[in-house]
Amino acid sequence: MSEPAFLSMPEHVAIIMDGNGRWAKQRGLPRAMGHRKGVEAVRETVRAAGDAGIKYLTLFAFSSENWRRPEAEVTDLMGLLKAFIRRDLAELHAQNVRIKIIGDRQSLRSDILNLLLEAEETTRDNTALTLVIAFNYGSRDEIARAMMSLAKDIEAGRLQAGDITPELINARLDTAGIPDPDLIIRTSGEERLSNFLLWQAAYSEFVFVPEYWPDFSRELFYAALEKFAARDRRFGGISAQAAAVGS
Ligand code: IPE
Ligand code: IPE
Ligand code: MG
Repeated sequence: MSEPAFLSMPEHVAIIMDGNGRWAKQRGLPRAMGHRKGVEAVRETVRAAGDAGIKYLTLFAFSSENWRRPEAEVTDLMGLLKAFIRRDLAELHAQNVRIKIIGDRQSLRSDILNLLLEAEETTRDNTALTLVIAFNYGSRDEIARAMMSLAKDIEAGRLQAGDITPELINARLDTAGIPDPDLIIRTSGEERLSNFLLWQAAYSEFVFVPEYWPDFSRELFYAALEKFAARDRRFGGISAQAAAVGS
């Protein structure tokens, strides 16, 4: 399948990879099998994003609320992330992919944290796609940590309350330096954010896909890009077309 050439390509696509459990249930398989198959969809999506010339791809892999799942499932998801980094890091590096992790690192086990740091460190100077992995990520937690960091500066007298601006808050988020997502895709038919990029999604376009994540493919990804290209983004203003003709 050839790469799409749309009039407007998103610079940053973020994906809520949902439906692994239901994919497995539908087949009478344990949920773990859905997660396993989901990793293959991750590989295909990263390749498709790189081929399409997308600069940033964010994948929601584990939320700060996913700790509420049964211990065996949490262990399984942690194991899959470790296996993914171990198995795919060299190839991602060879593809010139830069890896960036967002989420709370403090409460992660040291073996996982070290692998994530290694992935970031190895790929830090790569210049093709930036693959942002949201792991132990929750938007409210991220915003609270950003506020804490600002409050510490105020306590220490380095900052005045009146100096706080949206830009300053932005710079303290885990996503500092990463442009806001232009397009957010969620699979599995659910239509909610589930604590993902609440601040950054202010003007994102949304595409909800009925397929479960393990069935996500290059074709479905490019179909979402096509939908995005047909959207009229106004950012509170008027559409570019209307502005051009002065109507
Ligand atoms: C997405 O699939 C993977 C993670 C949240 C880690 P789910 O595990 O949420 O699958 P469903 O939503 O139960 O089908
Ligand atoms: C969101 O999916 C988190 C990830 C995709 C990692 P969930 O399956 O956890 O979301 P809810 O619980 O259905 O809202
Ligand atoms: Mg789910």
